[in-house]
Amino acid sequence: MLSDDFLESYHRDGFAVLTDAVAAEKCLELRARAGEIVEEFDHTGGGKTFSTTEQTHSREEYFLTSGGAVRCFLEEGVVDTQGRLLVEKANSVNKIGHAMHDLDPVFAAFSYTPLVAEVVSQLGIVNPQMLQSMYIFKSPGVGGEVVPHIDHSFLWTQPKSVMTLWYAIDDSTVENGCMWAMPGGHLSEPVRQRFRAEGGSTTMDVYDDTPYPLGEFVPVEAPRGTLVAFDGMLPHFSRHNHSDRPRHAYTVHVIDSDARYLKDNWLHRGEELPLRPLFEEVERLSA
Ligand code: FE2
Repeated sequence: MLSDDFLESYHRDGFAVLTDAVAAEKCLELRARAGEIVEEFDHTGGGKTFSTTEQTHSREEYFLTSGGAVRCFLEEGVVDTQGRLLVEKANSVNKIGHAMHDLDPVFAAFSYTPLVAEVVSQLGIVNPQMLQSMYIFKSPGVGGEVVPHIDHSFLWTQPKSVMTLWYAIDDSTVENGCMWAMPGGHLSEPVRQRFRAEGGSTTMDVYDDTPYPLGEFVPVEAPRGTLVAFDGMLPHFSRHNHSDRPRHAYTVHVIDSDARYLKDNWLHRGEELPLRPLFEEVERLSA
């Protein structure tokens, strides 16, 4: 059973932290599997860099068709014009996305657990589906920053339903670029942006360009095995990893299938891989 504190924090602050949610061995198993996926990844061919600032057609296509796939996205600036890696391959990838939870057995076992079913149901999602997964590397020296945003801007449902489950796979600290969040910001802050697909490309609608009050954000440091659950309206960001320690993390995004998932959201799956009802999938994998 989740503590009252956990549930209260979630509703009051927009996020709640559960330490020792996952055993260290499970984290290390997921970490090793992510390493294998990177090892098998062909980084050549262009268009495989993750960037929030610069888009090209091939980049857009690689990204927009990743909703039902397992793909690696390179950090910016780690490949030269000849396609040669400028850093160790293991440190070259920004993230893996976005359907490992349904396509990779190790990721599926980590993602669909009785704990997740309990968190999601106690936090009020009636018919949850796991929409997206991301394994984030934030490698020493190259792991880039993520600017302040809310996840609802990227996975828009009507009404808003997205919830993020974030796992510390490594110890996450201020030094290696932990997440920062704005307690209560899920209630007080307006929706500033919406990222969506448009004509084979992506675009960001801006509704409000007021900067976030960064002084109100707090670091969410988390030892390996911690789960942070947060509301899709919670403003959060993370800084560049300037330390010499990696900061691997894994996130899944859950939506309520009773809410309407907008057609022009950037992330879609083909009919061959429909979203799975979360509770049934947890039961199936636990059997
Ligand atoms: Fe986010």
